[in-house]
Amino acid sequence: MDSPFEVLGVSPDADEDTIEQAYREQVFEAHPDHGGSAAAFQRIRRAYERIQAGYDPDTDDAGSPAEAENTPEPAEPDPVGVPVQYLDYRALADHGWELTDADLFEKAADTDLEVGDYGEFRAEPGQPLLKAAEEAGHAWPFACRGGACTNCAVAIIDGEMPMHSSHILPQEWIDRGVRLSCVSAPVSDGMKVVFNVKHLPGLEELLLPASRFDKARSSGD
Ligand code: FES
Repeated sequence: MDSPFEVLGVSPDADEDTIEQAYREQVFEAHPDHGGSAAAFQRIRRAYERIQAGYDPDTDDAGSPAEAENTPEPAEPDPVGVPVQYLDYRALADHGWELTDADLFEKAADTDLEVGDYGEFRAEPGQPLLKAAEEAGHAWPFACRGGACTNCAVAIIDGEMPMHSSHILPQEWIDRGVRLSCVSAPVSDGMKVVFNVKHLPGLEELLLPASRFDKARSSGD
């Protein structure tokens, strides 16, 4: 089994910035929106999480199944962070629902939706929503990860997620509850969000094509 450093293509001595940069590049390329696969996306995300959790190559016992079998399961920690209920915008079209439906999430709960389309995860305090979704195993759309496009836009149905400034998202959209999930974090006790709203009429023309971002990034290397 590859070590998480091998998965990210960095040395075990790499500093935090190098690891973060390698993670961002790899997760971008592996994202299903950019031609990757969900399995590759998950593998990279898990590798990054293991490093963040203090992975030590010298004590890696992944090659010892017997030892792993005898290791008791750690106790489930109490849940922390803001519970975020999510719904994929594409499910609205499939079911004839509208963003303005007062009972949108109740209807979603009563419908047999895939776990990627509807469910709940937790966001750590101060954690951008996109990152929280990825850490929960979701491949939500994004391109720049820096507030310069609308690829990661979500619509807030319930809860608070302030977004102080945006070079790209007009105030009118912010007033309508749209946020860029890569640069804004939940602050309320709970959230209901519709992700994948990048194709809302009026937002679509602000999208940043993945290929353009790739070109910009490689020319800056
Ligand atoms: S990914 Fe471009 S603003 Fe979030």
